[in-house]
Amino acid sequence: MLEAVSRTLHRIEGSYAFGILCSDYPGALIAARKDSPLILGYGEGFNFIASDVTAMIRYTREVCYMEDGEIAVLTADSISVFNSELVPVEKTRTTIDWDITAAEKCGHPHFMFKEILEQPEAVRRTISPRIKDNRVIMPELSALSPDYLKNITRIYIIACGSSFHVGMVSKYIWESLLRIPVEVVLASEFRYCDPLADKNTLVVVISQSGETLDTMAAMAEAKRRGAKTLSIVNVVGSSIARSADHVLYTWAGPEIAVATTKAYSTQLVLMDLLGLYLADLLGTVGCEQYDEILTAIQTLPEQMQTVLAQTNDIQYFASRWFNHNSIFFIGRNLDYAMGLEGSLKLKEISYIHSEAYASGELKHGTISLIEPGALVVALGTYAPLFDKAVSNILEVKARGAQVMALTTENRKEKMGKIADAVLTVPETHAILLPSLSVVPLQLFAYYVALQRGCDIDKPRNLAKSVTVE
Ligand code: F6R
Repeated sequence: MLEAVSRTLHRIEGSYAFGILCSDYPGALIAARKDSPLILGYGEGFNFIASDVTAMIRYTREVCYMEDGEIAVLTADSISVFNSELVPVEKTRTTIDWDITAAEKCGHPHFMFKEILEQPEAVRRTISPRIKDNRVIMPELSALSPDYLKNITRIYIIACGSSFHVGMVSKYIWESLLRIPVEVVLASEFRYCDPLADKNTLVVVISQSGETLDTMAAMAEAKRRGAKTLSIVNVVGSSIARSADHVLYTWAGPEIAVATTKAYSTQLVLMDLLGLYLADLLGTVGCEQYDEILTAIQTLPEQMQTVLAQTNDIQYFASRWFNHNSIFFIGRNLDYAMGLEGSLKLKEISYIHSEAYASGELKHGTISLIEPGALVVALGTYAPLFDKAVSNILEVKARGAQVMALTTENRKEKMGKIADAVLTVPETHAILLPSLSVVPLQLFAYYVALQRGCDIDKPRNLAKSVTVE
């Protein structure tokens, strides 16, 4: 049987992860993969295969990751792994230290809601081990020397979906801190666009699951061109984590809801810390600014908690607007990048058509979509551009739109005079505003989807790990 599988695999093209049963060989399961993830789980009196550790942590924490070309034979009591020539391979087991309750709803109606509430703790877990004596420490990156960094002429951030939106926020922050051009490219585009990556390029790859096929292929393309790769990943030992030159883990814990929330927040704060760390190595950030940002990062978990206290208001606004067919998000700079994520969250779980626009682009076409009754979510947290946010709100109001605005606490009164509803986030360093603003946007999406009776944790047509192209 093993030989038959092996010979067949030599003839199969494309990406796959198989679990193969044969009635002539009862009690045995043969597993093989190419490009798609496949994980073996060691139990007592039972063993598992799965594409993601979250599928089996309720039963076992002992896992190992299969490599391309390997074939595993599982029975209830044993797991044997062979290479493509059928020579036995000794696999290293990994123990997943995620808390099992992290994969349970624990009385919450949905995983997504629970994961939104877990964000302050997840962010704390991600930042605490990386701050010591008021300095950012990243021992995982000791090989990235200042000399290497000084020769970097371009940084690419590559990701998909929400992880791509983290990149969009980070671009604004990193360019300002590092003074190096940062390009954020969708992984599915990067691999086919003849990218300008070479040995002087740093490629940062962001992925919660660490198994997104497009992201993995884009990273391989970057490596082929000589670029150094650094991955930001949540799942320890996942394919992207293993194949990047350097890896920084987010410590969000298992994320079960398809729509990402706590993984997004931990990616964002880790990118802030990393930006600060690299800027320090390059000498492009002053002591005062460094201290100011680091202090603000440390107060983030507490501030996120205060944003979560606005749940009732958000629930009320959602009940007011859940029936809309189309919702627009507008903002500039960091608020624009934030709007992209707010809009994606809303559309993926509530099935409402939604778009995010850079406010300055309204007059170049989009404003023709604004008609009486349209709902516009206007993001105006970024102080230097607050007045511009106000004039964009007046523009859409003049065309009959209803506006739900998001701003900082000290601008609530002013915003309240022009918007139909106002949500606020506490004051913080500008670069951390997106980490706070995302929370009400996630809650808004959640409550709108709840009102519409949607399957919140498993929205139609979507998968948690996107292991196909
Ligand atoms: C949206 C969402 C997706 C993922 C995207 C990338 O809520 O979860 O857009 O962000 O599929 O997945 P990862 O980060 O696992 O590479």
